[in-house]
This record gives sequence, C-alpha cells and structure tokens, in this order.
Amino acid sequence: MVVCSREYRGSTYLLREAVPSDCRLLYDWRMDPVTRAGSFGHDTFPYEEHEEWFRKLMADPCRKQFILLRLPAATPAAQLRLDLLGQEAEISYSVAASERGKGLGTLLIQMAVSHARNVSGIRTLTAEVLPDNTASRRIFEKCGFHLSGEKPGKLLYIYKLKGDTDG
Ligand SMILES: CC(C)(COP(=O)(O)OP(=O)(O)OC[C@H]1O[C@@H](n2cnc3c(N)ncnc32)[C@H](O)[C@@H]1OP(=O)(O)O)[C@@H](O)C(=O)NCCC(=O)NCCS
Repeated sequence: MVVCSREYRGSTYLLREAVPSDCRLLYDWRMDPVTRAGSFGHDTFPYEEHEEWFRKLMADPCRKQFILLRLPAATPAAQLRLDLLGQEAEISYSVAASERGKGLGTLLIQMAVSHARNVSGIRTLTAEVLPDNTASRRIFEKCGFHLSGEKPGKLLYIYKLKGDTDG
C-alpha cells in the first residue's frame, strides 16, 4: 500500500509498505559498506539471518517497513523503518548507493514526517545518529528535528508531531 507520494525534480516518488519480496533488496542495501558504517551494527551477517529478522519484522505490528520508489519504472531508491514504542516512532533509513547525493534522504524524511502525521497515536518521531554521520545529521536538522540529547557514541534527534494538549 502506498502511504505517501511526492513530486521531486520532475519525478514522482511513492512510499509504499514493504512486501515479502523486498527481503533480498533490503539485505543488499543493509550490506552496503556506507550503510554499515552509518549504522550501530557495523558487521556483515548471512542472508539466512536477515531472512529470519525480516520474517519477524513483517509479522510485528509495531514495526513498519517502507520502500521509496521512483516512477515511471518503480525504481527502488531508499528504505525507511518506523519502530513504534507507545506514542514514539523511531526512524531508521538509508538511500541506495547509486541514489545518494540527490536530495532523496531529505525527501524520504520529509515523507516520513508527512506519513506519521496521518497515523493516529504517533506524537513524536525520534532518530539515533552516529556523531560522524554528517549527511544524516544535516537531513534531520533540515527537516525540523531537534537535537535532544547525546548518549555515548550517538546523537538523539526528535520531532514533535503533536503538542501535549492536542491529538
Ligand atoms: C545518510 C544518507 C541517508 C544521506 O542520503 P542522501 O540522499 O545522500 O542525502 P541528501 O542528498 O538528502 O543530502 C543531505 C545533506 O547532506 C549533505 N551530504 C550528503 N552526503 C554527504 C557526505 N558524505 N558528507 C557530508 N555531507 C553530505 C548534502 O550536501 C545535504 O546537505 P545540503 O542540503 O546542505 O546540501 C545516505 O548517505 C545513506 O543512506 N547512508 C547510509 C545509511 C545511513 O547513514 N542512514 C542514516 C542512519 S541515521
């Protein structure tokens, strides 16, 4: 199911929910060296381990995986995950290596905010970022997230969708 669409630089982008056949694509993106360097788990792991993780992910109503597609060819360009914990949703995301540097990371987080506004119950978006991940820090700052704190080796970004008295 498509949850959000945007026109960007002359193309239409769709954010759709992941389906079982996305398993291999997500593994290949997860194994990308830059993605591993930008993640908290840097290691490679076998595809079978990923398959088991993906099976649990798809069965978990508190975890929502999305793929960003560019029309007309429905080219997969990026992935986004929202992990729901109470009224918070924690963001994880990456852009396909061949698609970086075109503004798609920024577009994806803007679409994540837009989608989250339509999901009842989410009041806050959060993200944990490695301090040396300059591009991701820039994306969250451009998209209106605030640096809310630091833990050893990570920065915490937060975006309030709804105030304490509404929603
Ligand atoms: C981080 C990542 C998502 C950025 O995606 P992207 O599509 O290349 O980002 P954008 O093109 O929207 O660029 C965002 C900003 O970062 C800057 N930027 C991009 N790559 C950069 C780099 N390697 N170093 C420094 N700044 C960079 C851009 O110039 C832009 O800033 P600007 O608007 O002021 O010019 C992408 O590199 C990626 O998938 N990395 C691996 C996974 C990851 O780190 N995910 C985030 C975990 S918190």
